[in-house]
Amino acid sequence: APSARERLFSLHQAVADWWRELLWKAPEGELCRRYLESRAIAREIAETFGMGYAPNRWDGVLRWGAAHGYSVEFLVEAGLVVLGEKARPYDRFRDRLIIPIADEAGRIVGFSGRSVGSEEAAPKYLNSPETPIFSKGRILLGMDRAKRAIAQEGRGILCEGPMDLIRCHAAGFGNVVAVQGTALTEHHARLLRRFAEEVIVCFDADRAGESAAVRGLAILTEAGLDVRVASLPAGEDPDSFLRGGEAAIASFRETLQRAPAYLSHLLDQAARQNDLTHPRGRSQAVQSMAVWLAKIPDPIGREAVVLDVAVRLGVSRSSLEEAIRRTGTTGK
Ligand code: UTP
Ligand code: MN
Ligand code: MN
Ligand code: MN
Ligand code: MN
Repeated sequence: APSARERLFSLHQAVADWWRELLWKAPEGELCRRYLESRAIAREIAETFGMGYAPNRWDGVLRWGAAHGYSVEFLVEAGLVVLGEKARPYDRFRDRLIIPIADEAGRIVGFSGRSVGSEEAAPKYLNSPETPIFSKGRILLGMDRAKRAIAQEGRGILCEGPMDLIRCHAAGFGNVVAVQGTALTEHHARLLRRFAEEVIVCFDADRAGESAAVRGLAILTEAGLDVRVASLPAGEDPDSFLRGGEAAIASFRETLQRAPAYLSHLLDQAARQNDLTHPRGRSQAVQSMAVWLAKIPDPIGREAVVLDVAVRLGVSRSSLEEAIRRTGTTGK
């Protein structure tokens, strides 16, 4: 008999197939098809990524499941059905564009559902909850498709969400994976490290994306990755940027090629955020860089960058070294 995990994989595949049919064949999929058009996602791309449409019904999966021999308890365990008040079950995914989430082996383990209505339903994305086969802190979206390219190039590119991932792959960037939003974990970092030595973080060029990138840097470098940071023009994400056609693709490629190493990204940021012509500004910039420099485990590697940082911030090498010592975390 198949194991519980195997039964969950097969349920996910079956419901994905059903939602895909609804997207392309059912009249009620029309709104979602138009949504894809409005985002310039060609049918071929949508099909490649197995997209579907979850209808605007409270009992869509419930009825489908009953007809296909899946118990309500099992649908709940899979996160497809939610138990509401008085344990009354209803569909989790309603009136949403469905993007299947695959594990490294390509098995569907969960779903991302994007609202498609003209009035954006909240939340914009609804995702599978934690289940026996899905954990958002462990899955990197797109790893099943990207792992070969990542290993071949020795480098992965990390973005924020499924649409960025899909657009990047459609534009020929095969080594892209994504988190779900901005919550990068150690597991994600270690997973990347299994395939490559280097990662380029390419988050949204907005406040949330920038601060998430900075938080992510510590996690990625601690996993032993060489980290670079690509910055898109303000307000863009990889999906929006790459909609600009061939010119945008070339410019994206160049942005990746030129992406600075994380320390130099942080140094630029410190120089932008502080007034280096004043002692107070220099001191704040020194404090912020000292924290990062202290994390470099190898003293020789640290020494090699300390002088550059000191020169750029307009302070002496010894005062920067003193600030690093004062963080009290050298090598950790
Ligand atoms: P973004 O707000 O940047 O969305 O959130 P996006 O990826 O650009 O999506 P589009 O282009 O508006 O469709 C980044 C990621 O954060 C997660 C999703 O995975 C999203 O792709 N997120 C965002 C959620 O899980 N829930 C939300 O309500 C919003
Ligand atoms: Mn974002
Ligand atoms: Mn975005
Ligand atoms: Mn957005
Ligand atoms: Mn977007």
